[in-house]
Amino acid sequence: MRDINKYFVGAHALDNCCFTLQKGEIHALVGENGAGKSTLVKIMTGVYTDYDGEYLFCGNKVHFQGIKEAQQAGISVVHQELNMMNDLTVAQNIFIGRESKGFFCSDKKLNEKAQKLISDFDIKVKPTELLKNLSVGKAQMVEIARAMSFESTKVLILDEPTAALSESESHDLFEKMENLRKKGISIVFISHRLGEIMKIADRVTVMRDGAYIDTLKVCECKIEEIICLMIGREIIEEPKQRSGVKENAPTVLEVTNLKSSKVKDVSFILNKGEILGFAGLVGSGRTEVMRLIYGVDKKESGEIFVNGVKRQINHSKDAIKYGIGYLSEDRKRFGLMLGLSVMDNIVLPSYTKLSKFGFVSKKKCLSETYRLIKQLKIKTFDTNQIVKKLSGGNQQKVVIGKWLLQDMDILIFDEPTRGIDVGAREEIYIMIKKLINQGNSIIVISSDLTEIVRLSDRVMVMSEGKITGELDISEANQEKIMTLATQG
Ligand SMILES: Nc1ncnc2c1ncn2[C@@H]1O[C@H](COP(=O)(O)OP(=O)(O)OP(=O)(O)O)[C@@H](O)[C@H]1O
Ligand SMILES: [Mg+2]
Repeated sequence: MRDINKYFVGAHALDNCCFTLQKGEIHALVGENGAGKSTLVKIMTGVYTDYDGEYLFCGNKVHFQGIKEAQQAGISVVHQELNMMNDLTVAQNIFIGRESKGFFCSDKKLNEKAQKLISDFDIKVKPTELLKNLSVGKAQMVEIARAMSFESTKVLILDEPTAALSESESHDLFEKMENLRKKGISIVFISHRLGEIMKIADRVTVMRDGAYIDTLKVCECKIEEIICLMIGREIIEEPKQRSGVKENAPTVLEVTNLKSSKVKDVSFILNKGEILGFAGLVGSGRTEVMRLIYGVDKKESGEIFVNGVKRQINHSKDAIKYGIGYLSEDRKRFGLMLGLSVMDNIVLPSYTKLSKFGFVSKKKCLSETYRLIKQLKIKTFDTNQIVKKLSGGNQQKVVIGKWLLQDMDILIFDEPTRGIDVGAREEIYIMIKKLINQGNSIIVISSDLTEIVRLSDRVMVMSEGKITGELDISEANQEKIMTLATQG
């Protein structure tokens, strides 16, 4: 791709950008949130047809006029945001658009074919399951399996495929990628987890502000070099430290014997001023526990105490009333109203707080929105920008902004840094520490073990719906957590 330019209203998303992919290589594409990675991918795959510049595919000049054309040429893609039909089954999703190759294909056949693919990928779902009933991680695995199942694929593009995956699932994915590479397939791999890139990629291209910066051979460079190119400065990691929970800090949240179909007898406490980490593999039940506490799913039994008082939480409104906020792991389905503006997403849930005598102060809304855009470094050209048009990572920041404004005592962050670039990740850690200093108490679910160890005061580990262990940060390390997380 040569001298690619792409303009949106208010954004010059690609600025003379270049990119070269060789046969049989795994080529990582990195850059901060909003750098233009997904936009480049959408041009490669025919999603965007209006752009300037030259696109050569297998030596021929091309200008795909739609996703079908790109796919027929041999390009498969997994986009950053899940792209599947919630009301269809897993099998239907996998074979959508190619059910019948001239002959009738029964549901049974379709399910059998899907089952084979699912088993190959070791995904624990049934072909007949509806997609909307899957966790994000599983849905993501299904979409990857789908993209990898096209026989004519020459180029496979994965836009943050591992963001919703656990380490072991990512590891499986890397093996599959390796096999495809051996077959001569070229892979474009986008990820904010630079460690993964060092492990799996042959070359890495860095983008910044829509422009091409450099392409390096992975075996010849260090992570620090890549970060420097990405953000033009070095990041100083704060050492791991306790956030200073007092010895006799009161318990703000206590959960006893929580049960549902996916949660098996979970009990734990959260102390004031504490960061409690929840580790475990994707599907281990962490999100399910939080959804029960937040009142979005119905519990079979179990009790919830907030500040020592037993509370009935049957709806998220109840949870919010008692000061519990939940930042969902799946922003597209639960966290955001994609068709509304940045400001509306941030201020709507806080309307009562922002209004005086029943009138919402527009000025106050604007100033609060500006403050959060600045604090979280949300890349948007205006407070009125529709959230759908922000880059993936910046959408995540909007969800965080929305919760920060609401002043909840207890905040549950489910995968807060998923899809967030390294620089912004540090900002989010700093913000979490700040919240703690203000007297909040926080639960963090993360599949990133480095993050868990770095942030938490105490770590709960879950496996198959049960809590398999509790570690104080002084004794926690990645190996111990992994051992507990894989316990049956
Ligand atoms: N549909 C759109 N309309 C307007 N602006 C857009 C649209 N899509 C992307 N942009 C803007 O283009 C720029 C590049 O976005 P892009 O999604 O390509 O970033 P990215 O590198 O994939 O970031 P992330 O790591 O957050 O996924 C951003 O400034 C974004 O706000
Ligand atoms: Mg992106």
